[in-house]
Amino acid sequence: MSDFIKTLEQMICDQRKMTSPLYQLIMDGKASQKLLQEFVINRWPIKNFWTRNILGIASRIDDYELRCGLITNIYEEETGALTNSCRHLQSFVDFGEQVGVSKETIENAPILPETRAVIEHNVHVCNDSTVHFSAGVASVLLLMEGQPPIINDRGQSMQKVMRDVYQLPHKGYDFFTHHASSEGDQEHISELEDDHASTAKEILRRYCTTPKLQQQAIDYLAKAIDLRHLHFDVILERYYNPSEPPFRWTVWQEKELVSQR
Ligand SMILES: [Fe+2]
Repeated sequence: MSDFIKTLEQMICDQRKMTSPLYQLIMDGKASQKLLQEFVINRWPIKNFWTRNILGIASRIDDYELRCGLITNIYEEETGALTNSCRHLQSFVDFGEQVGVSKETIENAPILPETRAVIEHNVHVCNDSTVHFSAGVASVLLLMEGQPPIINDRGQSMQKVMRDVYQLPHKGYDFFTHHASSEGDQEHISELEDDHASTAKEILRRYCTTPKLQQQAIDYLAKAIDLRHLHFDVILERYYNPSEPPFRWTVWQEKELVSQR
């Protein structure tokens, strides 16, 4: 593999999601209901742009096979048809509903400046034709799809933590089955994402070939990583109060039933 792609992978690995205190806390099973709700509310606007970001790249890829790889990725994202699930964004909203936040609230919540900065970065590098698309492939596509597994000290994947620790029902943890189910013995975050990351790397091998383009991709990736971590940090700082109990779906459900009586 080229040194350039290895450099990108190393950058992503060094500042992977599990280096963020937000993910560490969630994966430790300590997240409050409020924090999980705000996690969904504040992650959703970025995910809401995801397929359009990929489309911006796909529209500029001349190679048929590679473009098809991206279109297949988008088709699965928008429909869930290839994995017999549903639109991925919907499964994220389903997770939100299982922690007590409605679709309407998620879709209408104000967007924090740190979240807006991530969206603006992603639109700039993927959808703005004045920037070579390889910057978007490195700093959006590969960054998202090329994450190492999200696992805690006990070797549990995010899917397992959602199911076994927060005790969410299937509808609540299904999003993580397709996005964060790999365990420690795997290099990729999930089977699906591994496929997508291979396409991203192939595009870079094929089209990001000059020192100038490669440096641009590295610089944009560094910026994207910084923006993403600032966005994670602000969610934790604003919405986590250690005095609040960790969320457990079964306990919350019981309370909901009692309140409805
Ligand atoms: Fe997805």
